[in-house]
This record gives sequence, C-alpha cells and structure tokens, in this order.
Amino acid sequence: MSIGRKPRTDFTGRLSGRLAQTGIGRRGAAAMQELRRRVVPVHWSNMFGAVALACLAVITVTGVILMFHYTPSGASVAYEGRYPTLHGAQVSEAFASTMHISFEVPGGLALRQAHHWAALLLPAAVLAQLLVTFFTGAFRRPRRAGWVLLFLILIAALAGGWSGYALPDDMLSGTGLRIVEGITLGIPVVGTWMKDLLFGGQFPGEIIERLYPLHLAVVPLMLALIVVRVALLSRHQPAQFAGPRRTGANVVGMPLFPNAAARSGGLFLIVSGMLMLISATVTINPIWLYGPASPGDAGAGSQPDWYTGFLDGALRLVPPGWEIVAFDRTWTLAVLAPLAVISVFLLTVAVYPFIEERITGDHGEHHLLDRPRNTPTRTGTGVAGVVFSATLWAAGSADVMADAFSLTVEGVVLALQIVLVIGPLIGFALARRVCLGLQHKDRDLLLHGFETGRIVRLPGGEYVEVHEQLNPDERSRVSLAGVASVQDAGSTDGGSPVGSHLP
Ligand code: HEM
Repeated sequence: MSIGRKPRTDFTGRLSGRLAQTGIGRRGAAAMQELRRRVVPVHWSNMFGAVALACLAVITVTGVILMFHYTPSGASVAYEGRYPTLHGAQVSEAFASTMHISFEVPGGLALRQAHHWAALLLPAAVLAQLLVTFFTGAFRRPRRAGWVLLFLILIAALAGGWSGYALPDDMLSGTGLRIVEGITLGIPVVGTWMKDLLFGGQFPGEIIERLYPLHLAVVPLMLALIVVRVALLSRHQPAQFAGPRRTGANVVGMPLFPNAAARSGGLFLIVSGMLMLISATVTINPIWLYGPASPGDAGAGSQPDWYTGFLDGALRLVPPGWEIVAFDRTWTLAVLAPLAVISVFLLTVAVYPFIEERITGDHGEHHLLDRPRNTPTRTGTGVAGVVFSATLWAAGSADVMADAFSLTVEGVVLALQIVLVIGPLIGFALARRVCLGLQHKDRDLLLHGFETGRIVRLPGGEYVEVHEQLNPDERSRVSLAGVASVQDAGSTDGGSPVGSHLP
C-alpha cells in the first residue's frame, strides 16, 4: 500500500460507518453495549425458553405456509383427491383442503407434521419452565408478574393447540368438538347462548369458521406476552442459584451477548432441526385413517393431544348420575364439578406467588433461587399439584389403560378417583419428608464432611473412617443459608465467570 493514501473501505464498511452516525445507529450501538454488559447465569434450567421460542418459530413459519392451502370452511364437498379410499365421500372443505395439503402439496405433509409436532413440544417447554420457576421460588418479588405472564403464555399455547386440533375437521376433531358442545350446553343459564355464540347454530354449525381467526390470533398474543415478560424481567438482574461469589446483589455467569445469545441460538437451531427431522420421519395426526368428522360417530380410543388430556380426564372422573334439579333447571354436576375444580386449580396456580407471599409474610425481593429441598412446604405443594394434574391427565386415557392392561374401565376410573383425592396428600407428605431428609444430609455434610471410605486405626486401637471437608464451592452450594458462607469463598464458577454488580 502506498504511504499517505487512506486505506480503502468496502461498500458495507462505509454503509455501517454512516449508519453508526445516525440516531438509530447510536441507539443500536448503545443497546448492543448494554447487551454485552448484561450478565446471565449459566444453568440448564434456563434452556426451556429457547426450546419454546424454537417451537413458536416452527409453528409460525409452517402455519403461515399452511394458510395458503387450507380452507377454513365447514361447507360439504365430495372428496376427489389422491387418497382413493375416501373417493366420493362427503367431507367438509376444511377436511378436503387438509387432505390436499397432506397428499398433493409438495412437502405439505412434512409442514403439517412440523406444525403439529411443534405444537406438542411448545406446551411441554413452557410447562417445564413454569415448574422450574415454581420449585426454585423464581416467582417471588420482583418477578411475580413474570410468573403470571408465563402462566398466560401456557394458556395461550393450550388454546392454540386446542383450536388447531379442530381445524382439519377429521373424526378426532369432531369428537373433541362434540365434547366441547356438551360442556358448553351443560353450563346453566348462559350455556345455550354460549353454544350458539361458539358454533353459530346446530352442531357443527360454523365452528371451523369461528375457530380459525381465534387460532391465528394465538401467535401475536403469545409474542405480545413474551415481549412484555422479557421487558419486565430485564428491569431486574436475572435470578441465580446460590454459589461461589453469588449474592443477591450480583450475577455470576456469562455476558448475554455474544456468549449466552450464541448458546441459546445454538439450542434454538438444534430444536428447530430436530423438529423438522421428526416431522419428516414420524407420522402425527393421520387424518386419512380417522376419516372426516361425522356428528353421530366417534372412534374408539379417541384421545386428545397430551396437553388437553387433563380436561378430558376431569370429565371422565365424575361419578355417574351427578345431576340435581333445582330452581326449575337441571344442574349437570358432571360438567359443572370438573369445570369448577379445573378453574379453581388454574386460578390458584396463576396467583400462587401472591398466596405464598400472604401466607409467609415475606414481602422482600429475592434474587437468589431456592434449592427445592430447602423449602419443603412449597416443594410438597408443588408435588401435590403435579400428582393432582397427572391423575386427571391419566384419566383422559382410562379406556386405553383398561384395554391395554385387560382391566375394566370402571375399575380404572375408581382407582383414579381414589388417587385424585388421596394422591396429592401422600405426594405432599412424601415430598416434604424427602426434602427434610435431604436437608439433614446437607447439614451432616457441612458439619462432618463426606465419608472417604478410608479406615484408619487410632493409637488407642480404635478404627475410624476419615471424613473430608467439602471444598468452598461445594459448601456454598449446599449451605442452607445460601450466601453466608459464599461471599468470601472467592472461587470461580467453572470456566471464566463474569461477575456484575448491579445496584
Ligand atoms: C401464525 C400462527 C398460526 C397459523 C398461521 C396457523 C395455521 C394453521 C392452519 C392453516 C392449520 C390447518 C391446516 C392443518 O391442519 O394442516 C393449522 C392446524 C393446526 N395448528 Fe396452527 N397456526 C398457527 C399457530 C398455531 C399455534 C400457536 C399452535 C399451537 C400452539 C397451533 C397448532 C395447530 C395444530 C395442533 C393444528 C392441527 C395440525 C394437523 O393438521 O395435524 N397453530 N394451523
């Protein structure tokens, strides 16, 4: 290069230089600086967000492509597509278009399957995040609103899955919708009006036409909830587990950008890739085998998608004949009781942080997470909730279980009714005892160290086992107080941690 000449910059270099001078460029640079400055803890329990986002991305991309081929209409047509078994059958336009997507649109079946598999994984990822948040106490001040928003994201995911499940208008969808019609009609006073509002007349009415916009609204709704949640949570430092050098006033981990962002981005791509691989190889919802919806028919062993199984199970566990006549009306407890129980349960989950705060009187802010064993009552409550919902969920498959294990359906239902009542109590007591036992073990470890297996003979002839004290890292992790013994430990968190001290 000749001396005195300016080095040549390429077009993109010049463009980015100019951009950096503008207001947007300066604001972008400041935001990037802030991202680099922000430190996030590294823990496996933080990965569910990336999994959920990957599902949402797959759902959105595949859903938008499906939109171009799907016809949201219950109008009847004769099926003339590539699947010979159904030739000439009267089906809805929705069913015919979903068959068209499956057999005639290039890659259409893979897209449908990707949409469906991602819709199955999404509630699992959000639920896992909710469980981790619960058992570690990450919902306490100042993150109570974050918990409520996470709960609403789960409900939105369930609504998306449920409404999507109905769209292909196959026999399974039809059975599900018939149940929904029955539940709606069972609600006293407003039931008939609600049914008309939802179905627009005699079953199946215009349910497909009405569910479709609701289905499409789910992604914008979820994105809005996610944005508000991220904005709220980013006003505070991220919560972290107790450990070396970790206090309630700092964060030990890695910079959000680029390190943590690259890790989450990698996980995002892996999950998206896995979803596409599964969708290309594993069949889900083969509607051509179920056939079109028919108001008078239901297939044996009909099952909802896993995430709505608990609603189906709640209906199945009501003892027969639960009905009363009062005020000139029949009150169908077979519908009202499960509706009431599920509503109370979900509402309790939604406002749990407020309930716990009220009961414990702990109004302080918490940035250090709890080890579940150190909060036995909360852990027991969580286990009770899990046992309760898992029993409802299992009841959704009572007929399948009875068939698989050659039992009577009545026997399986009776067993599950008993488990529903006493299971949560046993779960609570057991989990609490296990937590207390683990606390004892931790206390022992702190006081006496761990057994090395080395037996030595003392001068007096006595044989004793040598105990070794925990190292400072282990002490701070196990410590019940969490932080007390941590602050002066001064050791690192594996790799190269960055400590940021936030106000
Ligand atoms: C941008 C948003 C979305 C669009 C445009 C969209 C579009 C569609 C369309 C056109 C169908 C009918 C075609 C078919 O069944 O193959 C469908 C079905 C379905 N959708 Fe969505 N959807 C969206 C979001 C969601 C969300 C958020 C969920 C769940 C969390 C979801 C779950 C489902 C399910 C389970 C089906 C049935 C798939 C099947 O046929 O097996 N969708 N969606």
